[in-house]
Amino acid sequence: MSDVVDFFRERYGAAPEHVAVAPGRLEFIGNHTDYNGGPVMGVAVDRVISVALARTEGEEAELSTLGNSETVVLPLKDLCPVTGADSWVNYPLGVYHVMREAGMQVGGGFKLAVSSTLPPGAGMSSSAAIELASGYAFAAAYGFEADTKTMARLGRKAENDYVGVPCGLLDQGVSAFGKKDHIVRIDCKLEEFDTVPLPAGVHFWVFNTQKKHALLDSLYEKRHSECMEAYRILAGRNPGLDCLADVELTMLADAEAELGDERLARARHVITETMRVREMSAALREGDLPRMGNLLSASHSSSRYDFENSCEELDFLVDALKDVHGVYGSRLTGGGFGGAVMAVTGASFSEAAAGKLCQAYEEKFGHEPTIFHTLTGDGARVLT
Ligand code: GLA
Repeated sequence: MSDVVDFFRERYGAAPEHVAVAPGRLEFIGNHTDYNGGPVMGVAVDRVISVALARTEGEEAELSTLGNSETVVLPLKDLCPVTGADSWVNYPLGVYHVMREAGMQVGGGFKLAVSSTLPPGAGMSSSAAIELASGYAFAAAYGFEADTKTMARLGRKAENDYVGVPCGLLDQGVSAFGKKDHIVRIDCKLEEFDTVPLPAGVHFWVFNTQKKHALLDSLYEKRHSECMEAYRILAGRNPGLDCLADVELTMLADAEAELGDERLARARHVITETMRVREMSAALREGDLPRMGNLLSASHSSSRYDFENSCEELDFLVDALKDVHGVYGSRLTGGGFGGAVMAVTGASFSEAAAGKLCQAYEEKFGHEPTIFHTLTGDGARVLT
């Protein structure tokens, strides 16, 4: 916390009134199930984004982030998203905007400072973390109490309506409901959240390819629309169907010709992934680690072949991790098309084993992936 407070003082010449933090997340299983009304599981990591805030008399927002000498100043009256290097301000301002739209009493100006212990570009959704930390800081500053679910929903709404990404509830839900040594489980159709204990001795390793597909946002949107189209076709044939995740494999088989190969494969991924998330609940309850690992591997294969949101680098890492002692399973985590692989391991998986893998990766791709061994952490909260 002290770094964001010191930074705030340095930048604005006075102490902040409130500080809130929110963790990054790892998608454990449930790839692209969230906006299809399916279940998803994620863990909050022990690295956070911190937001320090003080209200001001004016009508302007001043926003700065540790490590960047620029302070962005914008009028709050007619807010609209910014592009380019300053576009990170869309996350806090998007939350402010949706709070105001929802009739919450935000007003006046503010100064806001951000610091992070999340490694940059590590694929752990720093965007959701900044939304949640800002949301909690605004709630503290403007004196309203919103429950955890409301905060998660506001964060997602900011991302959908202000930032313009049609994401589901996973990132903001996990950042909000995270609990140390637990997995957050979200029923995205009912918007219900709970946590299940992580089996003892489970470790998380993140291998980031540092590869970001140039068309990342539009590919995510493309998959989103393919899923919505598949849902419309299937709902036309099966009245009363709420979402793609509720489709049964027999319904899919009956609609093969109408769906066509591509939509068929996308839908098959969402349906089978939904089944895997449910089975994961049983595996975790029984502490069945080999079954957990198989489900993670099966999830990756489904993303790779049916959802087609993997890439050569991610597949290389997942394939290489299959043969390593102490690894239960691995899969791409998050949106895909580049990004990171999450490996779930026992204590015997070591830095040396991870290093060996990175070396093999470097030989093939010419640079090393970044490695990050992470513990789980708690969800978003106000510190002061
Ligand atoms: C991104 C989105 C999430 C989710 C995942 C894929 O992380 O922000 O809402 O759709 O991709 O499961």
